[in-house]
Amino acid sequence: MSIVRINALEIPPQAGDEIVKRFTARMNSLGDVAGFEGFELLKPTGDAETRWFVYTRWADEASYAAWRDGDGARNAHAGPPAGADASGSEAEGAAAGSEESAPPQRPVSMGATLLEFDVQVEAAGSGIPAAE
Ligand code: HEM
Repeated sequence: MSIVRINALEIPPQAGDEIVKRFTARMNSLGDVAGFEGFELLKPTGDAETRWFVYTRWADEASYAAWRDGDGARNAHAGPPAGADASGSEAEGAAAGSEESAPPQRPVSMGATLLEFDVQVEAAGSGIPAAE
């Protein structure tokens, strides 16, 4: 069965909008990844909560490991993609109009913990059998 790898990120409350923007800008890097089955960026609902979950689901450990150790994770975590709006990155000295020399974004996350799971039982949407 599939596996789930959740990266639990500590995100300061004022950085929520920025982290959503950064992940949104990276979603295209997941388009063609072998064994990749799903992604969700989960924002905590409690006002005092700062732990966001980056939920990822993979066909098997080998698929996840290939993404993690290859270009996939590098692309997902590289600086701003060419042409991206880098506002909010607090990057100083960005040469306007020069994508090549865009400085690295400062991380907004304050910490990360990887949680690892194997899927045991699953159902999705209309996949739940109706009671007889
Ligand atoms: C289980 C898989 C993953 C692991 C272990 C992981 C690891 C990490 C770590 C350690 C950070 C915090 C360090 C930092 O802020 O630079 C981070 C942040 C981030 N990750 Fe991942 N990641 C995973 C999946 C993904 C995926 C699938 C994407 C998007 C396609 C992604 C995009 C990002 C972005 C945009 C940040 C925000 C960086 C920031 O704070 O500005 N990550 N990830």
